[in-house]
Amino acid sequence: MGFSENFLWGTATASYQIEGGAFEGGRGYTVWDDFCRTPGKVFSMHNGDVACDHYHRYKEDVKMMADMGIQAYRFSIAWSRILPEGKGEVSQSGIDFYNALIDELLKYNIKPCLTLFHWDLPFALHRLGGWQNPEIVDWFAEYAAVAAKAFGDRVKFFMTFNEPQCFVGLGHVTGEHAPGNLMSRRSVLEMAHHVMMAHGKAVQAIRSLVPDAQIGYAPTSNPVIPATDSPEDIEAARKAYFAVEDKPDYMWSVSWWSDPVMFGRYPEDGLKLFEKDLPDFKPEDLKLMHQPLDFYGQNIYNGYKVKSDHKGGWETVQRPVGYPRTGNGWPVVPESLYWGPRFLYERYQKPIVITENGCCCADVVSLDGKVHDPNRIDFYHRYLRELGRAIEDGVKVDAYFAWSVVDNFEWAKGYSDRFGMVYVDFETQERILKDSAYWYSEVIKNNGANLADIH
Ligand code: FCB
Repeated sequence: MGFSENFLWGTATASYQIEGGAFEGGRGYTVWDDFCRTPGKVFSMHNGDVACDHYHRYKEDVKMMADMGIQAYRFSIAWSRILPEGKGEVSQSGIDFYNALIDELLKYNIKPCLTLFHWDLPFALHRLGGWQNPEIVDWFAEYAAVAAKAFGDRVKFFMTFNEPQCFVGLGHVTGEHAPGNLMSRRSVLEMAHHVMMAHGKAVQAIRSLVPDAQIGYAPTSNPVIPATDSPEDIEAARKAYFAVEDKPDYMWSVSWWSDPVMFGRYPEDGLKLFEKDLPDFKPEDLKLMHQPLDFYGQNIYNGYKVKSDHKGGWETVQRPVGYPRTGNGWPVVPESLYWGPRFLYERYQKPIVITENGCCCADVVSLDGKVHDPNRIDFYHRYLRELGRAIEDGVKVDAYFAWSVVDNFEWAKGYSDRFGMVYVDFETQERILKDSAYWYSEVIKNNGANLADIH
């Protein structure tokens, strides 16, 4: 199926979603701790205080990943665990926790892949204006340097931001995610600008401290699929994928979030569209954002089809009646793992890393004590085949991280949405490997060769 010999098969998690231990080891309060305590925000007022109790059970979790044959583990660090106030004093017990986790991973030869920011902003920084305060660029770089110094002797794979579109867009445009305070378009664009500057400055910090690090970025997108293989439809899909559009969810754009980082400039169509709302962008800001990267990460869950309108534009193709959907209603669109990597590689010319991909199912423990999740297996099977096809067609893809290894705190959905290959009983913290965990082990063992089989 085209996966190279050193292709990395991994799984991904995020600190707030699995760690728990929210008030242990001196960890500082975060925007998500606060959001979960705000009535009406999170399903059943669930919170991440205990989550998967990974803070205490990390050894068991790492052993489980090792038994599954996982080669790489993408996790995020909680900024406020190592810098409780977000800047200034460093917490040794926070550093100790991640050191122990990293050492445990290395004991089993699992490559630690570290995301600096997966949404749990220290509350102390939120009080100072969070992403809207231009000083956050320096605070983030300070945090990156603390992490690089502490872990860079063993961690060689870093990602700065996970899905900046979400914590800025859902956090400030729709309010579905923390901190949830709605802001003007101007303020939101300003935040996005600071996030990308913080990315650039953090990359510089990591580079200088860990010269042999591989560094990337992990935004998200819903790839656009051409309705047919005709050159017109392909071109229409390409245009639609990279366009900045004036929709209520304008923050989901690919190019607005990636062209500055990858090319050092904002996309022209976006500059025009946002003309009236543009904050003051200085040329040196763009230079800072544009640091050399080793890979381009991307979270991909689904996508949609377009066709050419024969006027140089595109038309969205309606989804068929009864189209397949996952347990939380997201469309199942396997070709997004073909066209997404293909278009992104073409445009940004960097090895692609799929930093997240996965599926929510209504999993239950059956009478036989097992968790059967054929729909999740089918989802992964279809998507990974498409990724293999992209590789065969010349797209350079270095790694794939399945979301997620364990069921966890799914943000505004609380514990109601299960994404893990391992079932978690949140009352007892018992873990049960689902059928998909055994299936993924086989895929890894065969380096994807068995994906070609139909069963
Ligand atoms: C992504 C997030 C991740 C997880 C999955 C299901 O948007 O990055 O934390 O919640 O969705």
